[in-house]
Amino acid sequence: MAGQVTIRRAEKRDAAELAILVDLSSHGFASWLWQGAVVRGKGETALECGRCQLRSDDETGGWKDASFAEVDGEVAGAVIGYGIDTSIGDVEADHPVLHPLIDLQKKVVGSWFIDSLGVYRHHRGIGLGRQLLDHELERAAGRTASLITESTNEVALALYRSSGFVEVERMESVPLSADGKTHDWVLLTRSAT
Ligand SMILES: CC(C)(COP(=O)(O)OP(=O)(O)OC[C@H]1O[C@@H](n2cnc3c(N)ncnc32)[C@H](O)[C@@H]1OP(=O)(O)O)[C@@H](O)C(=O)NCCC(=O)NCCS
Repeated sequence: MAGQVTIRRAEKRDAAELAILVDLSSHGFASWLWQGAVVRGKGETALECGRCQLRSDDETGGWKDASFAEVDGEVAGAVIGYGIDTSIGDVEADHPVLHPLIDLQKKVVGSWFIDSLGVYRHHRGIGLGRQLLDHELERAAGRTASLITESTNEVALALYRSSGFVEVERMESVPLSADGKTHDWVLLTRSAT
């Protein structure tokens, strides 16, 4: 039986747990990028680089934009959301794998972008993903909401479609290695109600 569920805003001291959940929600894509920062000498491990990025007070999509779901006081999942403004027009992807993601974000200026949503496996299927999504839709405060997911992520697509999101565009992903698989990045939006 599910315990007591609480949704709360993240604090700076949550950055390490947030790094784990951001990585989970991106199926390891985040730690692949953070590993690049290790190679450039920015930290000891990918997770340390992720924690460092997420603890930043100035980082879009950092701890200030995050919220957690807790079950009986234990972190079970997280969501990150923020408004996309016209400054996205000046953003240049600093790695080719990010090009389609930035290009898709540039199509939803003015929207509330849901950047990450993840729930630990043993807490799935009890409504936490939907509660975190609803929390972020409330934070959208009358704005169109947007997000990007993988075309292969059927569970997430089912959640988003049942919450009123519709596909508006997709772009092929850039593989992470020469023999890596590709998928489409799917941009979905939900009109303000
Ligand atoms: C996607 C995710 C956040 C859903 O979290 P969750 O807490 O299990 O979701 P909920 O219990 O709130 O279920 C919400 C909806 O998701 C869909 N869903 C959940 N589990 C599912 C499953 N096993 N098969 C198909 N659809 C499923 C359903 O539409 C469900 O709605 P319903 O209960 O009304 O049928 C979670 O599976 C996850 O963290 N996955 C890995 C990371 C990820 O893919 N994040 C999204 C990146 S864009």
